[in-house]
Amino acid sequence: MRRAVCPGSFDPVTNGHVDVITRAAALYDELVVAVLVNPGKAGLFPVEERMELLREAVTELPNVTVDSFSGLLVDYCRDRDIPVIVKGLRAVSDFEYELQMAQMNRELAGIETLFVPTAPQVGHLSSSLVKQIATFGGDVSRLVPKAVHDRLAEHARRSGR
Ligand code: PNS
Repeated sequence: MRRAVCPGSFDPVTNGHVDVITRAAALYDELVVAVLVNPGKAGLFPVEERMELLREAVTELPNVTVDSFSGLLVDYCRDRDIPVIVKGLRAVSDFEYELQMAQMNRELAGIETLFVPTAPQVGHLSSSLVKQIATFGGDVSRLVPKAVHDRLAEHARRSGR
């Protein structure tokens, strides 16, 4: 059974994440999408809501499950016997930090990292930009799954924008 984890903040999930998850799911028997619980950084959506939005986004991928983790990613991988981390790369600027983390995770626990280059149509997407655009009333309908779009619109309405 080939297993991998696709970790991230997913605050919120974008079409870029969905692209990477979909392609990683085709390479492994089981893919766990793991949301980081970061007590030092609240984010826009609580972790439970991020997970719910992710679950809705991957309903058509039967070998994908959604989970959360705190602490070191390598500990999560070791506890669940997951030997591979999958990460999306949007641009060379992502690569420097991702390479460093990949090398560190391999040194810490022998866990390999597989990089998936994002599709060019979604290479410019980031959760931060999506949140910024939605906060100021911009149209993000082509950038995120429908449920995320609706939830962002609700946030913008509540904050009176
Ligand atoms: O979506 P993000 O914010 O780019 O995801 C970053 C994430 C969650 C993959 C990374 O911060 C992480 O692995 N955090 C867990 C803590 C950890 O293992 N740190 C050591 C990395 S070498």
